[in-house]
Amino acid sequence: MISMLRCTKELLGGKSSLLIPQMLLSVIDSLLNASMFGMMILTLMDLAEDSFTMEKLKTYLMALAGLFVIRCLVLAGAGILSQCRGADISRELRLRLGNHIRCLNLGFFNKNSIGRLNSTLMTDIGDFETVLTHSICDFIKIIVFTLVALGVALVIDLKYALVIVLLVGIALPLLTLSGEVSAKNSAALSRAMQMAVSRIVEYISGIKTFRLYNLTGEKFERLDESLKNLKKEATHSELSVLPYTISFSTITSCIIPLALIMGTYFLTRQTINTISFLAIIMLAISISSMMTGLSALYPQMKFLTRASGNILDILNEKPFPYEYDRAELKGYDLKFEDVYFRYTYNLDVLKNISFTAPAGTTTALIGPSGSGKTTIISLISRFWDVNEGRITIGDEDIRTFAPDSLTEQMTVVFQEVYLFNDTVFNNIKIGKPQATKEEVITAAQAANCHEFILKMEHGYDTMIGEGGSTLSGGEKQRISIARAFLKDAPIVLLDESTSSLDADNEQEIQLALDRLMKGKTVLVIAHRLNTIIKADKILVLSQGEILESGNHTQLLLEKGWYARMYTEQEKARGWQVTA
Ligand SMILES: Nc1ncnc2c1ncn2[C@@H]1O[C@H](COP(=O)(O)OP(=O)(O)OP(=O)(O)O)[C@@H](O)[C@H]1O
Ligand SMILES: [Mg+2]
Repeated sequence: MISMLRCTKELLGGKSSLLIPQMLLSVIDSLLNASMFGMMILTLMDLAEDSFTMEKLKTYLMALAGLFVIRCLVLAGAGILSQCRGADISRELRLRLGNHIRCLNLGFFNKNSIGRLNSTLMTDIGDFETVLTHSICDFIKIIVFTLVALGVALVIDLKYALVIVLLVGIALPLLTLSGEVSAKNSAALSRAMQMAVSRIVEYISGIKTFRLYNLTGEKFERLDESLKNLKKEATHSELSVLPYTISFSTITSCIIPLALIMGTYFLTRQTINTISFLAIIMLAISISSMMTGLSALYPQMKFLTRASGNILDILNEKPFPYEYDRAELKGYDLKFEDVYFRYTYNLDVLKNISFTAPAGTTTALIGPSGSGKTTIISLISRFWDVNEGRITIGDEDIRTFAPDSLTEQMTVVFQEVYLFNDTVFNNIKIGKPQATKEEVITAAQAANCHEFILKMEHGYDTMIGEGGSTLSGGEKQRISIARAFLKDAPIVLLDESTSSLDADNEQEIQLALDRLMKGKTVLVIAHRLNTIIKADKILVLSQGEILESGNHTQLLLEKGWYARMYTEQEKARGWQVTA
């Protein structure tokens, strides 16, 4: 309980006190409810004493109407507060998580599936909000009303009040057990949900492959199994708390027959009058129904433990350390000094990498697939941190500055282009959010995509499907280059796509890239001969090590890997031309 409160406080930051008004309104609502109940008893007492007059009826009716109106206002106020606070809590937590995830090592995504992140961002935050803004208020209402009712029972007869306390006391361990079972099941259910979401995302992303291999529907066993498991866990989670909640309700419902027996006994002994007898029965019915409500509510409140635990697990992941928020770079020379890097503990993906990419020059990285080229760009973008050695820009270790402020100085064009489900215009504008229409068009012209954009149905306002599914590979690449133009950063990191393009497309892309790279510090993972030949320096990477280094002419003279690859590519080009 204490750890649950500590987690909740930590997640709400300094805003826990914002929940106090709606909790107070819940207390007031409960007291008003109890007062209406009291008014009914007063009416009954007057009726029994034969002193009921029209005057009194009017007073009671007006008082009841007054209480009713105030209660409606309180309920409306509490409802509005709950909705607003709830929406604020979820929004702030989702933004906080989003911002936090943005600053994490990409290894975090190796460890955490999309299903888990989705489930925490949506389900856990949703549950956290619901429990805090609704369930806890309902819980307070039940507790306050029950305490007031117990007070009244105490005034009527001490023994009666003690019997109620005893019965609830006997049943309470069952409620605690239901909470524990619910917390345990909720964790299993949450895991099943994460798995199912991951499988659904996998299924949708890979639908083309699955269709080609006839693995759709039930034949995609991993999805089918995870959905079956989700159904099993959901049913189990509902059913397993039932024995405890039903037993709790059954025991606390015994308050009603016991009240009847005790009331009849007191009445025959004439220690209470008929009105007190009626009050005893009404109290028993109310407390019993409150306890039934509590038995349904309590297991739900345990969702708070699971939800806040899952959210905190992510928030407790350490973001990249850095010293300064703003990157004050003295130059744009890019340097690797004895860099070692491994994704997993046992395998060095980069070994003893040292090179300088001087400002304003182009350095090309080439090498076989899996040799570590993309990894080098990921390290400069600070998606990961080196294990040994250091990377500097303008002689400053990149770990000195906040990753955000560093990436502001870079334009990165990835191997895989990602476009958003938005207009062409907005997809380019991501490069510079405050860009004007003219700037976007100029960038598109420089990236050789203006022409084909104008030919699209709504020009720059044409929607691109999710991931850019409505565009060809070459078109997507050119749009990503337009983005890069708009950003106009002094350092350009380019992971050229390996996908083969037709000669026209290839030439257009090369022209766009040449314009983009002019005067910048460029590190390009090159597959196209043009880029390689013109580069100031070429680094040949093999199994995470630099094998050869020099410009085109020097490397040809070395007659090593580069010279061999160049000759082969030239031969292939010759065949293409003559074919
Ligand atoms: N996120 C990751 N987690 C673990 N290992 C990874 C990860 N990304 C890449 N690797 C491994 O690191 C090695 C280098 O990968 P990298 O992507 O840098 O190669 P590359 O030279 O860019 O290859 P390609 O030319 O095919 O793009 C590979 O063995 C790869 O399996
Ligand atoms: Mg690569």
